[in-house]
Amino acid sequence: MDGVDLADLAKEYGTPLYVMSMATLERNIAEVKKAFLGDDAMTETDCAVAEFARAEAETARAKTEVAYASKAFLCTAMAQIIERSGLSLDVVSGGELFTALRAGFPPERIIFHGSNKTPQEIEAAVLAGDVRIVVDADGEVDMIERIYEKLVSEGRLARRGADGADMPVRVLFRINPRVDIHGHEYISTGKADSKFGFSIDEDVIYPAIGRAAAAERVRPVGVHFHVGSQVFDNTAHKAAVGEALKVVKGVKDRLGVELSEVNVGGGFGIRYTDGDVRKPYSYFTDPIVGLVNEYCEANGLAVPKVIIEPGRSIVGDAGLTLYTVGSIREIAGIRKFVSVDGGMTDNIRPALYEAKYEAAIVNRAGEPVNETVTIVGKCCESGDMLIKDTRLAHAESGDILAVFTTGAYGYSMASNYNKQPIPAVVLVDGGKAQLIVRRQTYEELAARDLPLSEH
Ligand SMILES: Cc1ncc(COP(=O)(O)O)c(C=O)c1O
Repeated sequence: MDGVDLADLAKEYGTPLYVMSMATLERNIAEVKKAFLGDDAMTETDCAVAEFARAEAETARAKTEVAYASKAFLCTAMAQIIERSGLSLDVVSGGELFTALRAGFPPERIIFHGSNKTPQEIEAAVLAGDVRIVVDADGEVDMIERIYEKLVSEGRLARRGADGADMPVRVLFRINPRVDIHGHEYISTGKADSKFGFSIDEDVIYPAIGRAAAAERVRPVGVHFHVGSQVFDNTAHKAAVGEALKVVKGVKDRLGVELSEVNVGGGFGIRYTDGDVRKPYSYFTDPIVGLVNEYCEANGLAVPKVIIEPGRSIVGDAGLTLYTVGSIREIAGIRKFVSVDGGMTDNIRPALYEAKYEAAIVNRAGEPVNETVTIVGKCCESGDMLIKDTRLAHAESGDILAVFTTGAYGYSMASNYNKQPIPAVVLVDGGKAQLIVRRQTYEELAARDLPLSEH
């Protein structure tokens, strides 16, 4: 991978091990910039999906912004890679915000999400600088106002605008566009029955945005939606942007406020197995931008900036996980289980939503793939199954197994269940490997535990 021998990596850094490819990260970033930001620096041969590559340069009138959804994979090095690429960053918790800021990410390029933000998280976002906050629920605007006032009165807020006045917090409103991606219910987030966002009913959304428009410390700048993840069909995005545009018009008509940003979230699907055919970004973004331009022209609206928030499609296929094969159990006539030294603690996706992967034995790459096995993890759960019934070369204990396309929502969802340490992450780049997240130690696992008091 990127000129580095995976078996050597396993030996040097141990397993389970996340390995991220810099070349693939760069390729995905270049691809999204080319499709959406009109950045043509990339050659056709660099393009992973060359057959879909766009023939024309970006002609859209709408301004565009790409915010990488850091929930897919975030560590200091990843924040730095995104920062250097010029993309913005979507964070969804105080922890992600902290990691980004600590890595030097500029606040004005951070978009802060969350369906239930705590006062501490709002305070951190307001204190950080010009972070945009995506308001997701009633009461959040009031919370921002209260916290802003408190910080000003405590003399802790130095958010000076050009004219010397305190800068209001730029907010977007997350709407529930009531569209269904028909994917797994856990990754479909824009249906009517969803915990995310404001209803687009007139008596809900306009009073909510109206409160923000009237507030002193808050400035409504846009609307946001996210329809779900691992989406291969642009229908839901198109339907949802139609709903968002109606809100933009409604806000102008009723409140006299021109919203300048429409954030359409992420969700662009990637290839995990043969059944998945990755579409180019332009398959989603061209119709979205087209709809925005057409609608605004037809309705006399200023064209808002369109923001996308890809997560999985930036990091998913840049990552793989290496494991060491341990026990192998063949249950006659039923199944052959190949156990590895990780599992649901480093990759919960198969157990959580039956996500599918492919794998290969690194040290048997040239051998015939002639067995059907089920790869299982080491946790005390029958559901700790990484890949059910996959084809593999004959595995022996001690072999190094690679599970592909684990770069998104793997490391970031890792847990310490069964007191398993969180694996290390290595970045490979042009024949060199660099440790970017150290493996958690047993000492660190117990470091926050406190002994029983004497009384
Ligand atoms: C608000 C928001 N934006 C962007 C994303 C990224 O989605 P994906 O990784 O599918 O591109 C998510 C994922 O849950 C999200 O909730």
